[in-house]
Amino acid sequence: MKLAWATDIHLDRLSENDYLEYKEYLKELNPDRLIISGDIAEGEKVFRSLRDFDETFDFPIYFVLGNHDFYFGTFAAVEEKIRELVANSRNLTWLTEAGVIRLNDSTALIGVEGWGDGRNGTVDISRGYTKDLLLIGDYKDLDRSGINELLNTKGTYYAENLSGRLAEAVAGFENVFLVTHVPPFVEVCFDRSLRIHDEFRQPFYTCKAIGDLLLATMSGHPNCRMTVLCGHTHEKADVQVLENLRVRVKESSYGSWWDATIINL
Ligand SMILES: [Fe+2]
Ligand SMILES: [Fe+2]
Repeated sequence: MKLAWATDIHLDRLSENDYLEYKEYLKELNPDRLIISGDIAEGEKVFRSLRDFDETFDFPIYFVLGNHDFYFGTFAAVEEKIRELVANSRNLTWLTEAGVIRLNDSTALIGVEGWGDGRNGTVDISRGYTKDLLLIGDYKDLDRSGINELLNTKGTYYAENLSGRLAEAVAGFENVFLVTHVPPFVEVCFDRSLRIHDEFRQPFYTCKAIGDLLLATMSGHPNCRMTVLCGHTHEKADVQVLENLRVRVKESSYGSWWDATIINL
């Protein structure tokens, strides 16, 4: 089975020509499954692009959302539209609301968004990351402590969403792929010069709640191997966090597309 993994495709930033070229590339690649680990586009373009992918391709597409996918909306409104879109699609699966997906006898796929949950590093809005705060409705009118609380709440929410499926996957399969947008660990969270992001970026670039859950779960299941596929930083990383826990971040950029990473099972 050929899995193709793409991330942070930011389709709203591609020219019309590049968009068509990218679709042509994926069509020709013709993977058995396409995995997208978030930041598909922004605003209405998220739904339009997913619908277009669904109509264009004949292979299953498994995805989670990234922070950009919530821009110009709210968490609840975007989720509701995604739910409806997926329900009326041929090929789309939103991993966050799917169960444990069996890829073969020994391999399972699960996924959840994750969020920069403000738990690693130091939250200082003036030095950190402001675009999410301006463009996602849920942040509107929150003061600093309200913002911090929302970051924490999102991380906890996604970790709780994941925990049941994670337990089921590691109990039933030797290999588990976890698709998530935000890296769960500081160790894979690189900036452009391939240094670990500084303490003011870490709160927005790592989801510690999921990281903690993965450490606890995988150290208790030495016979299961997990590979985490994530994006968000746009900088490539590949770190063996535990002997049985590998975390990969795929490279990406705004305004151009990258070849998918092929994983053969
Ligand atoms: Fe991104
Ligand atoms: Fe992102």
